[in-house]
Amino acid sequence: MQIIRTVDDLRRWSRASRSTPGNMVGLVPTMGALHAGHASLIRAARDACTHVAVSLFVNPTQFGPGEDYSRYPRSFDADCALAEREGADVLFAPSVDELYPNGPASTFVDIAGLGDRLDGASRPGHFRGVATVVAKLLIAAEPDRAFFGQKDAAQVAVVRRMVADLGFATEIVACPIVRDADGLALSSRNAYLSPAERARALTLSRAIRAVESLVAQGECRGQMLIASADGVFSDACSAFGSGPEIRIDYIALVDWATLLPVETAAPGALFAVAAYIGATRLIDNTILK
Ligand code: PAF
Repeated sequence: MQIIRTVDDLRRWSRASRSTPGNMVGLVPTMGALHAGHASLIRAARDACTHVAVSLFVNPTQFGPGEDYSRYPRSFDADCALAEREGADVLFAPSVDELYPNGPASTFVDIAGLGDRLDGASRPGHFRGVATVVAKLLIAAEPDRAFFGQKDAAQVAVVRRMVADLGFATEIVACPIVRDADGLALSSRNAYLSPAERARALTLSRAIRAVESLVAQGECRGQMLIASADGVFSDACSAFGSGPEIRIDYIALVDWATLLPVETAAPGALFAVAAYIGATRLIDNTILK
């Protein structure tokens, strides 16, 4: 596996890779601290494309003041080993100066409306930073397909809208959420959780499972689904009593493309939760059947 540090080298690699008819370049954008969820994205890219690049860049512009940019887990050697093991051809690991040559950041991509919904409402400017860096990565790598985890479902919606609005030729592929055996959705931020917090973090996936089983029984009223997830959180707060706080950020049933609330759970609707477990903000979701 080749490690590439500059935009020019990445573009040269991508163009050379695609020069043979039928070849396809896949890009897996990441912020590192790679886990089995990222491994599944790399495998999906490997299955669908002839050449695969993984980008590893902790993007400063998607973190708000007081968020975890400086302490975000960084594990370059382990990330290289995982990316190589899963079959990546290239690891693109630029510096901040390489991706933001005029400082972070003189030009932004702002997805009006969509960028302020769900996580964008709680983390102002977050999706502006995500859209900006993903645009830079797509311009640099010119991939045929880019692979994102469905765990960050609002991010997928934002990136899809940006690609449509700006006319990128890249297909955005959303891959299923990967979970630990007990149901916790994999996230690099799970590394922040103490054992007591990790036990409480299961509340998110329990809430999602409760909603999925209600939908399977025929319930499709958004209010009832939201109340059921809310009930799972209330029960967890009572059951755990003292200790790290469990605090709901949002529970929402929305259209996956617009992120606007919907009243009825139609197939393809996104049911999403975000909650603070202690100081760590976690998210989980399901796309309703
Ligand atoms: O999902 C992530 O890890 C990041 O938001 C992304 C897409 C790599 C952009 O920095």
